Amino acid sequence: MKFGYFDDVNREYVITTPATPYPWINYLGCQDFFSLISNTSGGYCFYRDARLRRITRYRYNNVPIDSGGRYFYIYDSGDYWTPGWMPVKRELDRYECRHGLGYTRITGERNGVEVSQLAFVPLNYNGEVNQVVITNKSGSEKEIALFSFVEFCLWNAMDDMTNFQRNFSTGEVEVEGSAIYHKTEYRERRNHYAFFWVNSPIDGFDTDRESFLGLYNGFDSPKNVAAGKPTNSIASGWSPIASHYIKMSLKPGEKRSYIFVLGYVENPPEEKWERKGVINKKRAREMQQKFIDDTCVEKAFQELKDYWADLCSKFALESHDEKLNRMVNIWNPYQCMVTFNMSRSASYFESGISRGMGFRDSAQDLLGFVHQVPERARQRILDLASTQFEDGSAYHQYQPLTKKGNSDIGSGFNDDPLWLILATAQYIKETGDFGILDEMVPFDCDENKKDTLFEHLKRSFYHVVNNLGPHGLPLIGRADWNDCLNLNCFSTQPMNPFTPADKFEGRVAESVFIAGMFVLIGPEYVELCKRRGLSEEAAEAEKHIQNMVNAVLTHGYDGEWFLRAYDHFGNKIGSKECSEGQIFIEPQGICVMAGIGVKEGLAQKALDSVMKRLDTKYGIVLHTPAYTEYYLNLGEISSYPPGYKENAGIFCHNNPWIAIAETVIGRGDRAFEVYSKIAPAYIEDISDIHRTEPYVYSQMIAGRTRWSFGEAKNSWLTGTAAWNFVAITQYILGVRPVYDGLMVDPCIPASWDGFTVTREFRGSKYRIRVENPEHICKGVNKVIMDGKEIEGQVLPVSPKESEHEVIVIMG
Ligand code: GLC
Ligand code: GLC
Repeated sequence: MKFGYFDDVNREYVITTPATPYPWINYLGCQDFFSLISNTSGGYCFYRDARLRRITRYRYNNVPIDSGGRYFYIYDSGDYWTPGWMPVKRELDRYECRHGLGYTRITGERNGVEVSQLAFVPLNYNGEVNQVVITNKSGSEKEIALFSFVEFCLWNAMDDMTNFQRNFSTGEVEVEGSAIYHKTEYRERRNHYAFFWVNSPIDGFDTDRESFLGLYNGFDSPKNVAAGKPTNSIASGWSPIASHYIKMSLKPGEKRSYIFVLGYVENPPEEKWERKGVINKKRAREMQQKFIDDTCVEKAFQELKDYWADLCSKFALESHDEKLNRMVNIWNPYQCMVTFNMSRSASYFESGISRGMGFRDSAQDLLGFVHQVPERARQRILDLASTQFEDGSAYHQYQPLTKKGNSDIGSGFNDDPLWLILATAQYIKETGDFGILDEMVPFDCDENKKDTLFEHLKRSFYHVVNNLGPHGLPLIGRADWNDCLNLNCFSTQPMNPFTPADKFEGRVAESVFIAGMFVLIGPEYVELCKRRGLSEEAAEAEKHIQNMVNAVLTHGYDGEWFLRAYDHFGNKIGSKECSEGQIFIEPQGICVMAGIGVKEGLAQKALDSVMKRLDTKYGIVLHTPAYTEYYLNLGEISSYPPGYKENAGIFCHNNPWIAIAETVIGRGDRAFEVYSKIAPAYIEDISDIHRTEPYVYSQMIAGRTRWSFGEAKNSWLTGTAAWNFVAITQYILGVRPVYDGLMVDPCIPASWDGFTVTREFRGSKYRIRVENPEHICKGVNKVIMDGKEIEGQVLPVSPKESEHEVIVIMG
């Protein structure tokens, strides 16, 4: 069952009923100011950091779900309603929500009044704009009133929901003309305030929540809206809000447009005040002037659309498959950009409080957006590397506002360091910017401890080499990619976290997954050494990689698939000898991607085992059989009910590893099957079962052991986005940057006749037509560039701004 449809021409998903199976959200903003907005206008905004600089409040875990947002109430002779349906939930005669790239347009109509709300965060602007257009579609004149509404957060979102003894007394506002200023804590240590402004005179306002709502009312029935008049309240402590009240009379057919701006302003300390107690509003007024009328909105909106059109043009696919085109050209790159901006911090499943930017997550996300915004990818790499420790290990996450690592969930996740090498290699392949390796980067954000980025990568590489266990496989540490495989944890008390903040030593438990990663990513380090003329170091590194291959083949293979790990006692995990958790997806994907066991036939066997044991109609589960009890030696993985999350859920993030692995052994039909099984556009029809947004990936889908089999959770912020983008564009369609050019090496379903990709690469454009006359999955017979056959499959780097026609004939 569907609740909307894709509008590919406008790059939108159009939702036709407000009561979607879960709030279906979108993200606004792509630089510093961000908003989450649901299809019913719920959500919140923040500046850079959803924890430390939250601008509006949001109540996770609330009932009804998705309460709190930017709301526009219509009061129409005793009747009142909201165009997004929520929160008032009065029946609408028409409803539509269009989520586009960086904007959302919600339209609701009731009793002859149509309200259309366009929400977006303009480029280079620290604010959310809502253009609200009200049209009288009835045959008679209408006297109506519009109440706007936002509720401010007292900046630190964690403190805001815990420290009530203080916070009920600190709230402060100022009202000037049509602008309401939120200035809590500005009197002392903060140099920032927020404002909510409208480009028209107002007939009243409210800034105190209780005065507006009434103490015992919800957002669905604000006292003042029901009464059709505001109280001009001035907040003093308690909960500051901003609500404008605007009366209008509309003739039949007449429309009125209002532009609301929710903005954020920082003042230099010496320019904080206009006079004692009155904040300096100069910068706010400048921001307001930028949206004084509709032409300003049109212009900014067009700029935003152009920005996205440009980003989406970097890799453009024309194929026979409309769903595939829409994933590759629109929604997958869009989600990659959002994960770049948010990491795992703020979604409807991530509160914005507990996690900042993940080291491993952000490094992997980069694979999905580096071709769109290489300069920002560069900065991200340097930021991540700055949180690395001198021994090569890393903080597991850092705060976006301060860019400092935090130990909230500990460090010592032994896969972390390697992702930095992968991200850097990918960045260099995309840009050719080897110079990044010479950047001086601190360790642990300490400016006194600096070395080149190349040295950081070296420490990453040797962090693995220096931390091998009894079988010569990498020690797992706190955990590897699978955060929940906590082999050194032994947590018996709920207060003992699975990933505690303190240091620990565990020198037995080993990870076959990290071994696979090392063999996959290590060669990038070797290549970089060679290109820096460090041939001895390259040879040394190659030895370590070869040793690792041998260790995996000797101790990491279980007969028909790769083992997952050895636990603290040296017992096997992910082996046929285990009673539960006999086979895991991660090592099958990563080891085959690394090429381990390909020539021995072990890779194919492993992937056949995945197909036989782990595959389901909704995707590939993480392991099987699910753990039915808590195992002290395994940790969090066995804490989840069977079929959820890392305990045998369909953890979408590593499904594309299997797709890529299948391309390594040339099985294009299977690779595409794995890809399309979880790709949102292909499962739109089961939106009622899947429940999360049909235009983006979710982290997890309930596995077959759950009655809710097929139900997704944790949409948006997941490495699934980047990895699927890599799987489809670089390995199935096969267009991938390498150090010296653009490799074309498709591995597609045999039934395909071909496809065309237009790829921007290092400043020039390649239009690549792939033809598959013999209907094979893999293999290239001929590459013709600009009319001339070239040697091999790598398109050379070309002069900037040049355009090239390429024909690739498979065979
Ligand atoms: C979550 C985490 C990611 C981890 C994965 C598996 O998605 O963000 O870092 O790799 O879970 O545990
Ligand atoms: C929990 C989640 C996992 C996530 C981790 C992050 O373990 O199950 O998916 O990666 O938290 O800390």
